[in-house]
Amino acid sequence: MALRCDLIIRDATLFDGTGAPRTTGDVGVTGDRIVAVGDLGDATADREVIATGKALAPGFIDAHTHDDRAVLCGPDCLACKSSQGVTTVVVGNCGISLAPARLARRPVPPLDLLGEESWWRFGSFGEYARALEKAPPAVNTYALCGHQTLRVDAMGDDLYRPARDGEIERMRRKLAEALAEGASGFSTGLYYKPNMHATTEEVIAVGEALRAAGGLYVTHMRDEADRVCASIEETLTIGRRLGVPVHISHHKCSMPENYGRSVQTLALIGAAATMQEVAFDMYPYPAGSTVLMPDRLREECRVIVTWSVPHPEMAGKDLAEVARGWNTDLRTAAERLCPAGAITFQMDEEDVRRIMAHPLSVIGSDGIPHDAHPHPRLWGTFPRVLGLYVRQLGLLDLETAIHKMTGRTAALFGMVDRGVLRPGAYADLVLFDPHRVIDRATFEQPTLTAEGIEQVWTNGVPTWVAGRGLTGERPGRLIRRHRP
Ligand code: ZN
Ligand code: CU
Repeated sequence: MALRCDLIIRDATLFDGTGAPRTTGDVGVTGDRIVAVGDLGDATADREVIATGKALAPGFIDAHTHDDRAVLCGPDCLACKSSQGVTTVVVGNCGISLAPARLARRPVPPLDLLGEESWWRFGSFGEYARALEKAPPAVNTYALCGHQTLRVDAMGDDLYRPARDGEIERMRRKLAEALAEGASGFSTGLYYKPNMHATTEEVIAVGEALRAAGGLYVTHMRDEADRVCASIEETLTIGRRLGVPVHISHHKCSMPENYGRSVQTLALIGAAATMQEVAFDMYPYPAGSTVLMPDRLREECRVIVTWSVPHPEMAGKDLAEVARGWNTDLRTAAERLCPAGAITFQMDEEDVRRIMAHPLSVIGSDGIPHDAHPHPRLWGTFPRVLGLYVRQLGLLDLETAIHKMTGRTAALFGMVDRGVLRPGAYADLVLFDPHRVIDRATFEQPTLTAEGIEQVWTNGVPTWVAGRGLTGERPGRLIRRHRP
């Protein structure tokens, strides 16, 4: 008897996510799994897609997001992800996670990136997981538990000091609980004001919970500028002391005086990788984005306002232009805009390319989904790598770029049966036109949908169809790290 599938995608150029050379063939899907890959000439299906000349790959995994709240907002919130071919997002990065913390007031930046007080209603990770289960999004969610969230839960507003023993104890217990309830790792954002007072020892003491759970340590490092190498050393130390893999978030060499230093940082990380598990994610733009910090502005680095509570009308404007209009200096203007968010042009394109091309990197957007005028990485990251850096610039081949968006990411984070095209794997799939795929979002028009992403499936269910948009289906699941 010939094989019968729910769906067969025929005659596609197959990229299996492992980095292996492309092949041409068919993929059969039944339920939430891939059941066959190859020549499925005799097989039949309820639905067939003829994909001649199109690329079929595992759905992209966004290794770095701040989608903690967006995944709870229903299917409409995540068009920015599905339209890029993303089927899984890693949330809870940079020390910022929506659970576990119940708050009565707007949290201290950068925690407020996820929303004002009404969103902070999950006293445990389990409650967050249940909310996600009740109203799932179109993408799978893989969650980290954030250090700042734990600090606010344990220390209230008194954050500008190292945590005391009792507070560390509470954080460690809460982290262990979160890991038991479905979180997969621990993230820090030691760069930020309320967290920079945490010592390496505090991080290790809280991170102890990772050891037994086999969790991952992920970090927005203390310093990505002058002291970037010392920060990498600190990260490596934490990983060694805890005996867990470490993952450096959005690796960069920040500020003009550090341009070119990725030669050094990559050598340092590369050498460490021969002795311990370490990797990093990156986004394909020479500008970053986070909350606006008036005391960290630099005259020579252009800043675009992404949102502002007291002055929402300034979103999208250059800070310099706002300051001129108000007849004041940058710092005063920034102080008036806060709480606010910003895009800062603080990287060198050559560093961006060197970091992207490095074998240890994976792709993560660091998109901030609730900003009024977001960084274009939110809507453009994955098609930009495929269109600009692969097709137009030839920095990577397509196999390698896809590997950094799928199989490699799944392996680093311990996502089982994801990120690969093979029988038995989950049917997270993206069909795209390799000759046309490109981002359209820009710093001026940041929410334009990418081109060339034709169809996307999460767990076998269609989530995005070009020309039609989101299907409204919500097949996403909470996925957790498999203990190696
Ligand atoms: Zn960060
Ligand atoms: Cu981030």
